[in-house]
Amino acid sequence: MVPITLFAGFDLVSNMSSDFLPENSIVVGCGSVVLDFLATVAAYPKPDQKIRSTSFKIQGGGNTGNALTCAARLGLKPRIISKVADDTQGKSILDELQADGVDTSFIVVSKEGTSPFTYIIVDNQTKSRTCIHTPGFPPMKPNDLLESSLFAALNGARIAYFDGRLHETAQVVAREAVKKNIPILMDAERLREGLDDIIKVVDYVVCAEQFPQAWTEAATVPKALVSMLLSLPKLKFVIVTLGKDGCIMLERSEVTSTEEMDVDKLLESLEARKNESIYIPTCISSSATKLRAEGIGTICGRLYIGTAENIPLSELIDTTGAGDAFTGAVLYAICANFATEKMLCFAANVAATKCRALGARSGLPYRTDPRLASFMQ
Ligand SMILES: Nc1ncnc2c1ncn2[C@@H]1O[C@H](COP(=O)(O)OP(=O)(O)OP(=O)(O)O)[C@@H](O)[C@H]1O
Ligand SMILES: *[C@@H]1O[C@H](CO)[C@@H](O)[C@H](O)[C@H]1NC(C)=O
Ligand SMILES: *[C@@H]1O[C@H](CO)[C@@H](O)[C@H](O)[C@H]1NC(C)=O
Repeated sequence: MVPITLFAGFDLVSNMSSDFLPENSIVVGCGSVVLDFLATVAAYPKPDQKIRSTSFKIQGGGNTGNALTCAARLGLKPRIISKVADDTQGKSILDELQADGVDTSFIVVSKEGTSPFTYIIVDNQTKSRTCIHTPGFPPMKPNDLLESSLFAALNGARIAYFDGRLHETAQVVAREAVKKNIPILMDAERLREGLDDIIKVVDYVVCAEQFPQAWTEAATVPKALVSMLLSLPKLKFVIVTLGKDGCIMLERSEVTSTEEMDVDKLLESLEARKNESIYIPTCISSSATKLRAEGIGTICGRLYIGTAENIPLSELIDTTGAGDAFTGAVLYAICANFATEKMLCFAANVAATKCRALGARSGLPYRTDPRLASFMQ
């Protein structure tokens, strides 16, 4: 039997109050920054219906903008490589990032065209968030970024982040990051043009529920995670987020155990250890073992389940950008050398805090937030 352990955030609470920042906290993100137009509705409209919103907000969005704003509020020093247009939306996007301490000097401002924006309808009944995105124009091209800017952006960076957008530019930035031995984290939402070129050089992946199977064509999520570690030799871990069901993570480990375990069965045994009466995020993990994915291969690793916070319905406002909040917290955890269990509990806490306000950014916690106190010491 593979030993399984349960870890909960409250184990960390102590009277220590020293608060220190990671030594190197520069994170460089390349991807989308947009403006979100959010409207909450009592119930999702039918075609041709006219309804009123019950709450409304205009706020910055985009995976990179959100994840790096989260990272900034947690204490990191983010820089963003992206493109907006010289219009009111573009100005609003830049102002908001700057107010959060994100370095926008590597964001290209196009004289012509339009900045990207997204209409988001939050259904207060189902808590779903429906997005209608309009990409910015003209799209970012590698020539938009001077070589000197690229070097300056990556100078001294602890980690680089990509969201799979702006793939031509992202590929150039990723290649340079690899040259400089800067670790890379990728947020993989779905299959996108050019994604394969970047994912093959990344150290960490955080992905959406459908991604692992879409990318590997494996029969189950655990098998797909094994398949990803097998085909991406640089990959140290992959996390798949599952909304209110938390996340599953597979971490590569060096230890070679003689014991071999079917990865689907191991996940089942971890799931059996979930405790519904614990409302705060927890982490259930296996020890390092040889994991077999039938018909795919074996890998030595540790499997984890991170549970989500059980948020009271009256407090659950909007899940827009929950994944970005989670990823921003993972970026912080990597820079701060958090143990894996602590990282998963921390990220779920940060994401759950975000879900208590409308929009991808309003609810993002600051490092001084009492909810995070037990992690920040
Ligand atoms: N309803 C919820 N209750 C509690 N936690 C949630 C809820 N929804 C999301 N989370 C937290 O946020 C994390 C990421 O959520 P999710 O898997 O929905 O990301 P996503 O689909 O990438 O979201 P987005 O694309 O909007 O950023 C989850 O692992 C969980 O910790
Ligand atoms: C959502 O629904 C709840 C319960 O019906 C209500 O109290 C709340 O005001 C609504 N919020 C919005 C923004 O519509
Ligand atoms: C679940 O958690 C509660 C609260 O911490 C605890 O009292 C209970 O013993 C746990 N149940 C199991 C089956 O571990």
